[in-house]
Amino acid sequence: MTVQLLHLADPHFGSLADVRQVEALEGMIPDLHPDVVVLAGDLAQRARHGEFQRARAFVRAAAAVAPVYVLPGNHDVSWWRRPLVPFARGPLYAKYRRYFGPELAPTLSVPGAIVAGALTAHGLAWGSLTWRPRDLSVIGHLPKREYLRVRAVFAAAPPELARVLVVHHNVLRGEISRRMGLARWRQAQRRLAESGAEVVLCGHDHQEGADILGDRVVVATAGTLSKSSRGGRPASFNFVTIEPTAVQITFFRWEGERGRFQPSDTFAFARRAAPGAPAGARQGAAGRRAMLPD
Ligand SMILES: [Fe+2]
Repeated sequence: MTVQLLHLADPHFGSLADVRQVEALEGMIPDLHPDVVVLAGDLAQRARHGEFQRARAFVRAAAAVAPVYVLPGNHDVSWWRRPLVPFARGPLYAKYRRYFGPELAPTLSVPGAIVAGALTAHGLAWGSLTWRPRDLSVIGHLPKREYLRVRAVFAAAPPELARVLVVHHNVLRGEISRRMGLARWRQAQRRLAESGAEVVLCGHDHQEGADILGDRVVVATAGTLSKSSRGGRPASFNFVTIEPTAVQITFFRWEGERGRFQPSDTFAFARRAAPGAPAGARQGAAGRRAMLPD
């Protein structure tokens, strides 16, 4: 069974959002007809009501086509509230919850796939602290409890379902930024590789990417729909196709003069443990990636 996901992140509704791009994407969703729309955080810029309200309008429009999976990023957290207080962190997420429901990292099942999320945006928290002051409130971390919860979700899911994990922060180093999105990133990568996820969808770095983590997990990083793209690159979103034996990630990039998104590069990865795949196909190309022509 083939499952297709429209994967975007970091629209930063508010002054940074590019309304032409947002409206162009809204118009495309019925034609793309994904099975799931994933919005991997940083919906807002300053966790303001108006920003969340526009994000909610986007989600409602997308939900007319397919189930929408949303989870918060660092800009969706009122991090200035309860800094470094480990308990009763409810106020951090109160506004986000008002518009997107109580579950910060829900689980969504669709035919052929289970989509789980791990919360990595914890505001000004001990686990996210690094030695770099500018990481404050920006960088995330993957707590053990989130890793264990997600691992249990995937372990309990029927074996034939593709296992997709959504996190906000980039889990691989940004190509231009050279930055990891997560504190203690080696531990986080180890946890992600052992979570049971086959595909990880993330954002935060504002540069699209597709690669393999730990020789077993396909990682798609979404670009941004905002004006703060990395290195002046065009805004983009990803279209992820999970086939029985392969995962394909296509970058749709913004063409400003035409006012539309166009498919560009596609990356293809063999599914390491594709259910029902012949053993040779599973082993032969595991971890290899190929860039296909447009
Ligand atoms: Fe972010």
